[in-house]
Amino acid sequence: MTTDRPVALVTGASSGIGKETALALVAAGFHVVGTGRDTSRVTPLGGVTLLDLDVVSDASVAAAVRETSERFGRIDVLVNNAGVGSMGAAEETSVAQTQAVFDTNVFGVMRMVNEVLPHMRAQRSGRIINISSVLGFLPQPYMAAYAASKHAIEGYTESLDHEVRDHGVRALIVEPAYTRTGFEANSAKPEIPLHAYAKQRQTVDRVMAEAVRGGDAPAVVAKAIVAAATDPKPKPRYTAGPLAGRARVLRRLAPAGVFDRQIRKMNRLAG
Ligand SMILES: NC(=O)c1ccc[n+]([C@@H]2O[C@H](COP(=O)([O-])OP(=O)(O)OC[C@H]3O[C@@H](n4cnc5c(N)ncnc54)[C@H](OP(=O)(O)O)[C@@H]3O)[C@@H](O)[C@H]2O)c1
Repeated sequence: MTTDRPVALVTGASSGIGKETALALVAAGFHVVGTGRDTSRVTPLGGVTLLDLDVVSDASVAAAVRETSERFGRIDVLVNNAGVGSMGAAEETSVAQTQAVFDTNVFGVMRMVNEVLPHMRAQRSGRIINISSVLGFLPQPYMAAYAASKHAIEGYTESLDHEVRDHGVRALIVEPAYTRTGFEANSAKPEIPLHAYAKQRQTVDRVMAEAVRGGDAPAVVAKAIVAAATDPKPKPRYTAGPLAGRARVLRRLAPAGVFDRQIRKMNRLAG
């Protein structure tokens, strides 16, 4: 089938931000393919074509992109939303655990981009929207592996955007703050718990849980993603919601020492 309607492929559309984004893109006039690792367990989403996709598998990525292209004849927007969190002190996190986080959050994005780009270059148009985080520019203690993965996505996306712009394609970043999803519950827990960090880790976990409870609705992030997908002149970065916007401005303007003290205070770290 070929279509005049734009086509969007959203990874991790089985829950949270991805689910809300898939529905918002349908409302904005897109054909939407939404993915999850096992969509037989996902309640059908109105207007969204569900496909199985595990971003850590080259074969699964190739099959999902091929199926989207064969079914709709084009891919206009790729939303790289699938992601996992990782809690715990850096020293409590094994290299294997960090590799697993990067396999989804970073290499998963790279697999998707490499598979989708030939289609977008052939069309001479397309948008790749990578979901970063406030932690992509503001490192949070007790989430070092996750913050590192989102910092990697920030750098990767900026480099990519310079390269693909000549081919009619843009690579953009969306930065959510705390958002009310199952993200925290789905996050990896410390593999090597150490007594030295236990008390502070519990404090930070409580701070995080409170922040997520009072965080943005996933629809706030979906709105920023739809803007990135449809703005006639897209911005390289979109913050989602007021907290993310404020954090971005502060990160740019506040002296490093002030910022450092603020992070420690927020996480109830001494000194
Ligand atoms: N919630 C927040 O506070 C927050 C803040 C900033 C940024 N973010 C980012 O927003 C994105 C979405 O997170 P969320 O909050 O909506 O969390 P979520 O509800 O846990 O959703 C994560 C999604 O990723 C999918 N996923 C996980 N591993 C995958 C894999 N290997 N292959 C394919 N899909 C996979 C999950 O699908 P299945 O399990 O069904 O496969 C699920 O749909 C992530 O990139 C996250 O880092 C979240």
